[in-house]
Amino acid sequence: MHLKGKKILKAAITAVGGYTPKTILSNHKLETMVDTSDEWIRSRTGIKERRILLDENKATSYLAIKAAKDLLNKKKTTANTIDLVIVATVTPDLHVAATAAYVASSIGAKNAFAFDLNAACSGFLYGMSVAAAYVNSGQYKKVLLIGADKMSSIVDYTDRTTCIIFGDGGGAVLFEPSLNKNGWEDEYFRSDGSDRMSLRIKAGGSLHPTSKDTLEKGWHNIHQDGKTVFKYAVSEMSKVTKEIMKRNQLDKESIDYLVPHQANKRIIDATTQRLDLNPNKVMMNIEYFGNTTAATLPLLLNDYENKLNIGDKLVFAAFGGGFTWGAAYLTWAY
Ligand code: UT7
Repeated sequence: MHLKGKKILKAAITAVGGYTPKTILSNHKLETMVDTSDEWIRSRTGIKERRILLDENKATSYLAIKAAKDLLNKKKTTANTIDLVIVATVTPDLHVAATAAYVASSIGAKNAFAFDLNAACSGFLYGMSVAAAYVNSGQYKKVLLIGADKMSSIVDYTDRTTCIIFGDGGGAVLFEPSLNKNGWEDEYFRSDGSDRMSLRIKAGGSLHPTSKDTLEKGWHNIHQDGKTVFKYAVSEMSKVTKEIMKRNQLDKESIDYLVPHQANKRIIDATTQRLDLNPNKVMMNIEYFGNTTAATLPLLLNDYENKLNIGDKLVFAAFGGGFTWGAAYLTWAY
């Protein structure tokens, strides 16, 4: 098959990197900040601690650069052959001026162009589709996709319903043409904006520009109606995952790993049950990192990289603000 004279290739993940800050924000520390308890947080979310980038002078780009450099070191390669850098994030360094451009310059990807992608907790999942499509088409050969969020910069640490979930982190993957038959296989993505206020930062955008009033009302922090998001996440994540498994003839035996967004262990457990999957086949690190938004999926890959084998069948699933959600199927290429 040819597209504009170019051969259709198969995109594969060929390297992974990750970074989480050193500072740990434990449940016990949160007990001293809001009316909550370690027991409540563990039983309702599965989270024990999360990492926080305390330095006020360091932003999401810092997490992204660290993750990208980790990938480049592990891959023993330099950044100058990268064609495109995408940063999936809801916490860009600046409102205007793509974080990805700064990250690309900082890591020495001087031959790349760069842009940010915002689809909240589904940002990395959607980003994989964009990266894979560019590589599949033959338009670009090396796409560096980073998911990074400094969630602590938008969390209100007096709001116990939201602050207990989120943490900071960054993860990166490199998409290149596959050298074997493995790589990006299929995707099934959805969105529904009718309930967007259930998980949002209300002000600072064009709908409610920053004003004294919006600042006083606390509209610049992330806020969620947890129950609504929870319900949607459980039902929709399992629906799209079932669909992607069905159309790729995957069953609970043939799938090697479910790679689910880490928002709440109860959401992951409910999805696992609905798919009747063995919990050993479900990647999980929420206990230590909490919900790092766009960074959860690459941080999982980074943590499980040594366990993965060529040909392993991975199904990704995510649900996030917007609402945005979906599932994807990828076979591991290295
Ligand atoms: O990644 C993006 C998407 N985000 C998500 O997927 C998050 C989805 N939502 C959730 O994970 C959960 O809804 C939460 C963890 C946010 C909340 O858990 P929940 O089991 O849904 O709790 P709830 O909101 O139903 O609250 C139950 C009770 C309430 O008290 P009453 O009304 O029963 O007296 C809350 O006020 O727990 C109370 N509560 C807390 N208690 C101690 C809420 N937050 C806390 C807290 N510590 N941090």
